[in-house]
Parts: sequence; structure tokens; C-alpha cells
Amino acid sequence: MISFYLFADAIATVACLALIYQYLSRKSYLPFPPGPPRLPIIGNAFDIPEDYAWKQYAKWSEKYGDVISLQVFGQTIVIINSHSALRDIVLKRSATFTGRPYHKFSEMTGLLGSNIVMTNGNEWRERRRIIENSLKPVAMQMYRHSQTCKILKLLKRVLSRPDEIFDHTREYTGAFVLDIAYGYDVQDSEDRFVKDNEEFINLFTRTILPGALIVNTLPILGRLPPKMLGQEFADLVERVGRLWKQVVHEPYKWVKEGMLTDEDVDKEQVLVDGLGNTYFGSSMHFALASLIFIFVNRLFAAAIDTTTSASMTFILCMVLNPHVQAKAHEELDRVIGRERMPSFYDRPNLPYIGAVYMEILRWDLTAPLGIQHTPDKDVVCGGFYIPKGASVIGNAWAILHDPVRYPEPDVFRPERHLSSEGRIIDDPYLEYAFGYGTRKCPGRHFADATIWLYIVTVLTFFEIRMEKDARGMEIPINVKFETRGTVRGPLPFPCTLVPRDREALERIFQQS
Ligand code: HEM
Repeated sequence: MISFYLFADAIATVACLALIYQYLSRKSYLPFPPGPPRLPIIGNAFDIPEDYAWKQYAKWSEKYGDVISLQVFGQTIVIINSHSALRDIVLKRSATFTGRPYHKFSEMTGLLGSNIVMTNGNEWRERRRIIENSLKPVAMQMYRHSQTCKILKLLKRVLSRPDEIFDHTREYTGAFVLDIAYGYDVQDSEDRFVKDNEEFINLFTRTILPGALIVNTLPILGRLPPKMLGQEFADLVERVGRLWKQVVHEPYKWVKEGMLTDEDVDKEQVLVDGLGNTYFGSSMHFALASLIFIFVNRLFAAAIDTTTSASMTFILCMVLNPHVQAKAHEELDRVIGRERMPSFYDRPNLPYIGAVYMEILRWDLTAPLGIQHTPDKDVVCGGFYIPKGASVIGNAWAILHDPVRYPEPDVFRPERHLSSEGRIIDDPYLEYAFGYGTRKCPGRHFADATIWLYIVTVLTFFEIRMEKDARGMEIPINVKFETRGTVRGPLPFPCTLVPRDREALERIFQQS
């Protein structure tokens, strides 16, 4: 008990010192953006909601304005709730807001090299260039063959086990990602690389949110042995560190061993064709390929959970909105029929499907608060002061649920993205679903291609229905979303996929 009090005293002392330091080191005496009242020392530590923080932030902005701030143990968190404020404060100074807040937990777990938390600097810039290059729209065309194979596999799985769409979807996104990254063929949804990735990202993203861990708010505490901050915390450090090593090294080891011991030159070819050619031409040496591997590995940890969550949001929206599904089926029957696989060439002729995809991005965002940025110098804007190192959050949910731009924002309505002639209305605000400025998600074209193909293929061949119980009654869905730190998606719910034309689908399987 005594040690607990000593420890609490130590935290209070460190927090006081942090506050004094923050006050003395201020370069401007303009106020921070307004926000809810703060308690001494701990500030707003107890005001940050555990879930649905984006809604609370949007609500506060009705009282305090579009830009609000919170203080947690002397750390400043600024939340920007509108497009115009985000443009004026961040986008006009993109270079200043390229950094990420210092994340002590990542240092403790050996993760500072991850693309997501890496702060700006030459290494980040170089990596970002490589990533952007390998995931730009034209590069996506190289991955189409792999994507088509994976989506066919998904259809076969759904046909044989129609009420396990969650597992099949995870397998599809994981298989596609791991195939183009390593030439690795995922066997099923229990695959160890997919599972490791999932567990890692699930734990890690929870640590990124502001106020989630005391060591990020008061980094000095990270110098203590993790056990002093509780057994639970010590276990988290150990597990995340171990999983990170697994996620980075295991697939890499798998390919390297395969290349060195197998006669299987195909795998090397996958790597060289898929990634190397993009930057270095076909003469790329294996060592260089290995380096790219490491980038890629870190990159794809960000890909699987996000894409799966958005795909499952789509399935949920279809079960809940049969009238939307019926309209989508009508368009698909008219443009594609049931005798062939849909392809990306069909995209311009499928505006309703395009609108469904746009509404999925908007309706329940996969990353409602994105990932925090931080300014690398003090910023004064609109009469407010934002200190260097503050955590800056762009509330994408608030922007995409603005009732003026999107009337009845909580209603799932693809028609809002179509003109009266049925054409897609471009909506640059939807990009906020993928972040903003120089750190905007480099995987957005990849996500776009993967999710769009998923939507169009599943709907061409299946009707997504509520599941029935033994008496033939529909099982009601209790809609529940789970927020895993920055990423969010629906929890499994009962539903089943019924083939619209089984014989036609089997004919397609035979031909492919
Ligand atoms: C529905 C799917 C996805 C959503 C909603 C999403 C969303 C986001 C958001 C909001 C950010 C933070 C951007 C910012 O800081 O402003 C981000 C960063 C990132 N995303 Fe995605 N993402 C998705 C899919 C992907 C995919 C498929 C990949 C990889 C192929 C990917 C790779 C990354 C990486 C590497 C970063 C860190 C970028 C940096 O810090 O420079 N994401 N994503």
C-alpha cells in the first residue's frame, strides 16, 4: 500500500513538473482553443470518453466552436471538428503538421520504426515515397490478377459455408494483402500470419489514442520497469513487443527460407514483379528486395483490419437495408448479368454500386478520428495557440456527419451521392475517411479497389439476408460496433448469403 501511495505521489509530482515546464516553455500567451473545464493537474483526464469520443467531441463543438482543446497531465490535445477549420489550421501548413506525437509505448515495444507512429524526418519521407509508389492507382493494376483469384476463392467459400461471412472476409483481405506482399497463399481464416496481424493491430491501435496510456502522456514513467505500472501493463508491453516481432519477421523468414531452399523461383518473381519493378526495374537484387519486405510488412499491418471492418460494415448495411440491396441487384442484373465475373472495367457503368461504396465510407467510419498529427513548431491561428508537440485530431466523423452537408447523417442512404440523372456526385470530403494532409492514408487506393471489388462481386452472386432460427423466424440483429483504438467495425452478427443463381455460379467456377 505504501508503495502505491509513493507511486501516486511520484505521478502527481511528475505531472506538476510537466505543467510548470509547459507553462514556462510557452512561446505565446494566447489561449489554447476552448474546451470543457479542467481539474488541476489531471486536466480533462476523466472527460475523454472510452467509446464514441468522436460524438462527444462533435457535441462539445456546439458549445465551444469547431476547434476545441483538452489538457491531460499537461499534454495538449486539439480536436478539429470541421473541414474549414482543418483547412485553415492544418492543410494550409501541411509540412508543419506532418509529425506524429511522441509515443513512448512504441519505444518500449520496439515499434518506433512502424510507419504509422514514425514521426517525420528523412527516413519517414523515403518510406512514404516508396509506399505511395507501390500503392498508387496505376500500381494497383499489377495486383488485379491476384485480387481476382482471391475473390473467386471467397465466392467458393461463401457458397459452401454461407453463414460464415466474417471468417471468409477476413481471409479474403488477409490473403490478398499477404499474396501481393510476399507471394504467400493463405489457407483459411485461421492462418497464423493473418491471426498474428489481427491480434497485433487489435492491441496496438488501442494504445495510440490520446490518454489511452499514462506512459504516452508522461513519457518519463516509461523509464520505470513496466511492472511498476501494473501487471496488466507489463503483459501488454510484452505481448505487443512479441507480436510485432512475429508480424515483421515471420512472413519475411517464410519467403526467405522458401527462396533459399526451394527451387520455387516463382516466389522471388512475385516479389520482384510486384514490388521491385515499381521502383528499381527488373534487375533488382535480392538484398534490396529484402529491405522492401520490411517496409511492406510494417505497412500491411495497417491494411487487413481496416479493409475487413469496412467490408463487414457493407454486409451489415445490406442486411439492414434490403431496399438498397434490391436497387443494387437491379443495376447489376442490367449491367453484368449473372454469367460472368464483374471487373473494374464495369465500374463507370455501376453508379449505384459506387454510391453504396461511398456511403459505406461515410456512414460508420472505420477510423472516425484518424491518427493524431503533431506540429513541429508552435502554431498561432484564429487567436488560439497550439503548442509544438500537441496531439491534433481531425474529427472525420464530425465532418462526414455534418447535417447541413449530409441531411439525416445517421441514415444509410447511397442516393445522397447521386445526381438526379443517377450519376455519381464527386465528394472530396469523403477523403477524410482516410485522414488528411501529408500523412493521409497511402493505402486508400488499395482499400478502394479491394472493398469495391468485394461489394460488386458479393452482390452480383448473392443475396445477403437475415438468418432464420429453427422455426423459420428471422433472428433480429443487435447492431454492435467495436472500437479497437483507431479502427472500428461491426461485431459478428447473424446473417446468411443465398446464391442468386447457383448453377450460373458453378459454371463460372468451372470456367476459371
Ligand atoms: C477502409 C480502409 C482504410 C481506412 C479507413 C484507413 C484509414 C487511415 C487513416 C485515417 C490513416 C491516418 C491518416 C492521417 O494520419 O491523417 C491511415 C494511415 C495509414 N494507412 Fe490506412 N486506411 C485503410 C486502409 C489501408 C490499407 C489497405 C493500407 C495499406 C495497404 C493502409 C496503410 C496505411 C499506412 C501505412 C498509414 C500510415 C501513413 C503515415 O503515417 O504516413 N491503410 N489510414
